[in-house]
Amino acid sequence: MNVPVITVDGPSASGKGTIAERVAERLGFHVLDSGALYRLTALHAIRQGVDLQDSASVSALAAKLPAEFRPGKVWLASEEVTRAIRSEEVGEGASKVAALPAVREALLGRQRDYAQPPGLVADGRDMGTVVFPHAVAKVFLTASAEARAERRYKQLIEKGISANLAALVRDMRARDERDTQRAVAPLKPADDALVLDSTLLNIDQVVEAVLRHYHSTREN
Ligand code: DC
Repeated sequence: MNVPVITVDGPSASGKGTIAERVAERLGFHVLDSGALYRLTALHAIRQGVDLQDSASVSALAAKLPAEFRPGKVWLASEEVTRAIRSEEVGEGASKVAALPAVREALLGRQRDYAQPPGLVADGRDMGTVVFPHAVAKVFLTASAEARAERRYKQLIEKGISANLAALVRDMRARDERDTQRAVAPLKPADDALVLDSTLLNIDQVVEAVLRHYHSTREN
């Protein structure tokens, strides 16, 4: 596989999605939001009345997920679900189905198929460790739980949704604990990943750091 892949992994609300999109835009690369695939799997299972702990049934749905990504929009069969997959319920469901090894296996080939010319920026939790171990540039994006909670707080307030900062910090820590401790594909930097702490950086600075890292791998 000669298509260049850049992986951007990290905990929730670390800004991975935005960074991956901007980097892909700058390079003219495709982008894979792998978390959306777990969210789509959860939504599909909920809609079909399938128990989210039923590994065999959920992985069968994941293997044939009728999902389609169009610019700025996500479709599940004939329904546009761009907003629906961002709900709390679906987020919770995604974290449950993501813990099932058979589901992760069922989504593996589909994720790898996104590596198409001229290149791919893939964001998630295990892009550099499991899905694209041979990626040319790997980044692990972190930020303190407080900084991530504050970003999420601002997003919610801007959308007119009330939020509690202390509760968000607690949620962030609980999710980090769950993501890093799970048995299958736990959240951790790949050995060859550049670990970037974005606590004190803005989006543009992080994008530039990722691009510098990518270009440096091309020079060697
Ligand atoms: O990044 P996100 O919040 O959209 O991810 C949704 C869920 O899927 C989250 O619980 C983590 C999980 N996930 C995963 O296990 N592996 C990935 N590559 C991406 C997401």
